Amino acid sequence: MNIQELLNIEYPILQGAMANISTSEIASAVSNAGGLGMIATGGFTPEEVRREIRKMRELTDKPFGVNVVIMHSDVEELKELVVEEKVKIVTCGAGNPAPYIGYWKENGIKVIPIIANKKMAMKVESLGADACVFEGAEAGGHIGKLNTFAALPEIVGSVNIPVVAAGGVYTARQIFAAEILGASGVQMGTRFLVAEETPVHENFKKALIDATDRDTIVTGITGPHPVRCLKNSLTDKLLELELKGAGVEEFEKYAVGSTLKAVKDGDSDWGSIMAGEGLEYLTEIESAKDIIENIMKEYDELTDFWCRNGN
Ligand SMILES: Cc1cc2nc3c(=O)[nH]c(=O)nc-3n(C[C@H](O)[C@H](O)[C@H](O)COP(=O)(O)O)c2cc1C
Repeated sequence: MNIQELLNIEYPILQGAMANISTSEIASAVSNAGGLGMIATGGFTPEEVRREIRKMRELTDKPFGVNVVIMHSDVEELKELVVEEKVKIVTCGAGNPAPYIGYWKENGIKVIPIIANKKMAMKVESLGADACVFEGAEAGGHIGKLNTFAALPEIVGSVNIPVVAAGGVYTARQIFAAEILGASGVQMGTRFLVAEETPVHENFKKALIDATDRDTIVTGITGPHPVRCLKNSLTDKLLELELKGAGVEEFEKYAVGSTLKAVKDGDSDWGSIMAGEGLEYLTEIESAKDIIENIMKEYDELTDFWCRNGN
């Protein structure tokens, strides 16, 4: 079964959950455009998540998902909340999903863990996951070690469930490439950061549109949680602290609250703007519908051309 059949969506495009950002506003726009919108739990309280799920149902009758961050301080409450709210699709990551997959499956939820390597893919399949998202290190936000297009075929070959490719996917050509490498669909995060409906400050979107291909950087490279962000004074400072082996308190002085500083206050210099490597593809603010329809139009032209000419 492919990802469209599994999730009952028109296009093989999932909107990646984005902590502090992906509320029902952008998620419903993506679902209404034929993709799968995703409500984040990262950065939100369980009550806020519940409110967004309910709002989502007023804004769309199309399928949508909720992303449960396993390291969330209220993960046990979120585990129950998605069942109570009759959510049909859950993606989960940032922690061990093993204690949750079975429970959600028993409650009729389709479970799609985010994985970073072959071992994790095989593990979540053995626990009953319906599909998995393989997210490579080109992605924005917290990343693993392997890169999408290098590791994808190996991961697809190691499991029998559909694999969705994430990290570095912005265009029709990349979707087609991911499919040729065996993916059943793609998950895009950064591409939707510049959607009209995405509730981030306009400075945040402008900084992404102005940025070019070498403008992301990974901080936290020596620790367990590396993060890909747009380069700015904050990332310079964090890398400087990292190089001199600074203590946690020094990092926290700059890092705590930095996401909201960027998302809400529009501080694109000292706020954390998590973003993936494909910044050259972000050229304007468009509706989620236009983003998806333009990509799929180009995809149809590309695949038609390919079938006729073989290149
Ligand atoms: C700002 C931002 C916040 C993110 N927050 C989350 C999150 O809360 N949970 C999650 O599973 N993934 C999160 N991600 C990863 C995305 O869901 C998605 O997998 C990733 O953006 C795909 O790579 P791309 O940015 O190259 O499209 C985040 C990504 C970004 C850019």
